[in-house]
Amino acid sequence: MKYQEILNKGNQILRANNIKSSNLDCELILSKVLKKTREEILINLNNKINKNQKNEFVFYLNKRRNKNPISYILGFKFFWKYKFYINKSTLIPRPESEHLVEQTLKYMPIGKSMNILDIGTGSGCLIVSLLKERPNCLATAIDISIEALKVAKFNAKLHHLENKIKFFNIDIDKFNSKKYDLIISNPPYINKVDLNRLDDDVRLYEPRLALYGGITGFEEIKKIIEKSSKLLKYSGKLLIEIGEKQKDYTIKILLKNGFYVNKICKDFSGKDRCLVNTKIN
Ligand SMILES: C[S@@+](CC[C@H](N)C(=O)[O-])C[C@H]1O[C@@H](n2cnc3c(N)ncnc32)[C@H](O)[C@@H]1O
Repeated sequence: MKYQEILNKGNQILRANNIKSSNLDCELILSKVLKKTREEILINLNNKINKNQKNEFVFYLNKRRNKNPISYILGFKFFWKYKFYINKSTLIPRPESEHLVEQTLKYMPIGKSMNILDIGTGSGCLIVSLLKERPNCLATAIDISIEALKVAKFNAKLHHLENKIKFFNIDIDKFNSKKYDLIISNPPYINKVDLNRLDDDVRLYEPRLALYGGITGFEEIKKIIEKSSKLLKYSGKLLIEIGEKQKDYTIKILLKNGFYVNKICKDFSGKDRCLVNTKIN
């Protein structure tokens, strides 16, 4: 069977199952199976695949047909400027979270040595991206999920940061340490009602621990703000990602916990996405 034929067939099957990115996903699956880039495939559409390759293609296609996210099938996701390995224990890094990186870098002057804490590190995509940009800084990354932490450690090593990031498998509630210059967090912030309304790709496959923020969606946000208030140095910064409708109540929690709210940042779709805050008392 030619590359073109298997791509057409796969595309048809995914489209019939309402997979919007059917075309791209088939190309990515074929590139995984053939261990070739998409470009190599697209300029050699008349080349043929063998039987084993066809079976492997069908195996992954069926996963995708069942709404398994393409990033889990491929086992990686690009975020900021880097490749991050992921698995079903880690949230798939989202483009929206690149705003958090972009904003945080503004408070990390080039050449300055700072101590940073990443709460709920998941794949480690945020802290690894930050430290790649600011090699003078050191970090601590925590996660309640031991499996996610293994992935974060792997990514830190992949990007040669294993000596700069310390990892702890702990609930933020129980984490006590010295004080930090800056804290970042992308917490689980989906509420109970919205959790059941998520797309199947997310709801059925991404870790609940990474998504669910309690009945109101604010449980983890509140914990993180309260704890950050104790873990930050005076005038230290907390940058936190939030859901699109969570700005007002999050600001209330921040003010109650001795923070000044510097900035509310929107994502590419104009939704409130992250808050920049300073610890003032
Ligand atoms: C939304 S994911 C963010 C992952 C990653 N930072 C990112 O931006 O892609 C939230 C992460 O927080 C972790 N987590 C949830 N509750 C936690 C808690 N109480 N203490 C520490 N980590 C927690 C989850 O296991 C998950 O990896």
